Amino acid sequence: MTKNMDSKKIDPCTLVLFGASGNLSRVKLMPGLYRLDSLGRLPDDMKILSVGRSPIAHEDWQAEVRGMLEAKFYNGIDETVFKRFIKRNHYQANVSDDPDAMKKLEVRLTDESVFPQNFAYFLSIRPVDFATVVEQLASVGLTDERKYWRRVLIEKPFGTSLEKAEELQASITKHLKESQIYRIDHYLGKAALQNIMLTRFANHLFEPLWNNEHIDHVQITNNETLGVGDRTKFYDNTGALRDMGQSHLLQTLALVAMEKPIDFQPESIRTEKVKLLQSIRPIDTTNMDKQAFRAQYKEGNAPARDGHSEHVKGYLHELGYESSVETYAAMKLFIDNPRWKGVPFYVRTAKRMHEGSMAISIRFKKAPMELKEGQQQNWLILSIQPKESLKLEVQTKVPGLDIATRSISMDGQLRQETDDSVDSYETLLLNLMEGDPSLFLHIDEVKAQWKLIDPIVKTWAEDKSPVHQYPAGSRDPKDSGVIFESEDQFWRYSIELGGDKH
Ligand code: BG6
Repeated sequence: MTKNMDSKKIDPCTLVLFGASGNLSRVKLMPGLYRLDSLGRLPDDMKILSVGRSPIAHEDWQAEVRGMLEAKFYNGIDETVFKRFIKRNHYQANVSDDPDAMKKLEVRLTDESVFPQNFAYFLSIRPVDFATVVEQLASVGLTDERKYWRRVLIEKPFGTSLEKAEELQASITKHLKESQIYRIDHYLGKAALQNIMLTRFANHLFEPLWNNEHIDHVQITNNETLGVGDRTKFYDNTGALRDMGQSHLLQTLALVAMEKPIDFQPESIRTEKVKLLQSIRPIDTTNMDKQAFRAQYKEGNAPARDGHSEHVKGYLHELGYESSVETYAAMKLFIDNPRWKGVPFYVRTAKRMHEGSMAISIRFKKAPMELKEGQQQNWLILSIQPKESLKLEVQTKVPGLDIATRSISMDGQLRQETDDSVDSYETLLLNLMEGDPSLFLHIDEVKAQWKLIDPIVKTWAEDKSPVHQYPAGSRDPKDSGVIFESEDQFWRYSIELGGDKH
């Protein structure tokens, strides 16, 4: 799964970027492609055709691209690299009320003197348009693989429920083979997430302990300090559980809990992930309160970028109307297999928390001997972001005449100063052009994820009782502790042990 980035050759190809003037393209894709170019990872004859809604002249588009890069790289851009990069860039308008827009795109794209004929389409567009764009590409022959490869990358979310995901799948597979479809979850491109599997299987130390005999429970957390920003409309149709839980967090859980694949081939890894996702016990909706918890942030003081805090509005105020959609979601999951029988997996995500961090915190069972009341149990913390580290907490003797213990922590940074810092989108863009699907989702994974999430979303939508509130910038709402299996469990924060124990 983690591979040497230069291990594969990229065929001459054209990356066709739908939604090229959108936010993702500005903040991640264009800067990512420029960085790949600066690292010498793009083949000389690779081209980028950006597709947007409005007509833009070639020079104006090039100036626009320059603006995107300058906004991202405050310290300036390398003019030599930029000169090479900008030559790759072209623009095509796909005006929505022009019935011939796709035909025009086809005529432009099939001009072999400009564009290499292997095409990778990156659909960074509204999810409701995925099926239509695939249909239109097929109608003008642009998905035909008889002579060249044609791949389609579909941004998340793939559907908004199991039913919608199946509809989308049915519609795109009329035109595409599974091998042409790249369903993205950008978390799989994060190096620290890929490290989960390597930590487990490239060490002897962990695997013997990785089961219900030794592990008390697992927490998978992704909290953000930011609010929903200007995505209120999208967010209110989605909520925290679908936005983050459905894919990013369940994929993380799959990597933490799956069985050892027979090898590191994409198919073998996916097989194990699918098996794991399918063995998560469905939530018992008659007993939801003990298994899932939701809340919304209200106004409060949230950490600001400059390290201070700022007074921010509550979610409902930002939205401007009443809503029961959650900005905090936590659930307790059990995996019905021999390895994990009885071990709760707590999965939580929230906006506007006191800290922004993602971590997997694993608490081991009580030690064979308790030397003092309340002696801490061992924790292993795999921190994904912003710190990328592995931390093991163990009990040791306090030097001196008495028998006493204290917790020390063995803290290892995954990243060394000289290591490349590669954004997840850079890895995934490269994988798309290389034709490596290992970090993309198979439809069976997507389906298993929706199957699990759908009943919670539905139950919450029907539940008319008031939604819990938490002040922006605070820790988990106190009442969220209701989902813990035992009284001595508490939310683990990335650095502190315990934080506010409930
Ligand atoms: C996206 C969600 O998928 O992931 C956003 O839609 C969220 O709401 C983002 O902020 C977080 O991604 P990252 O890479 O910044 O952790």
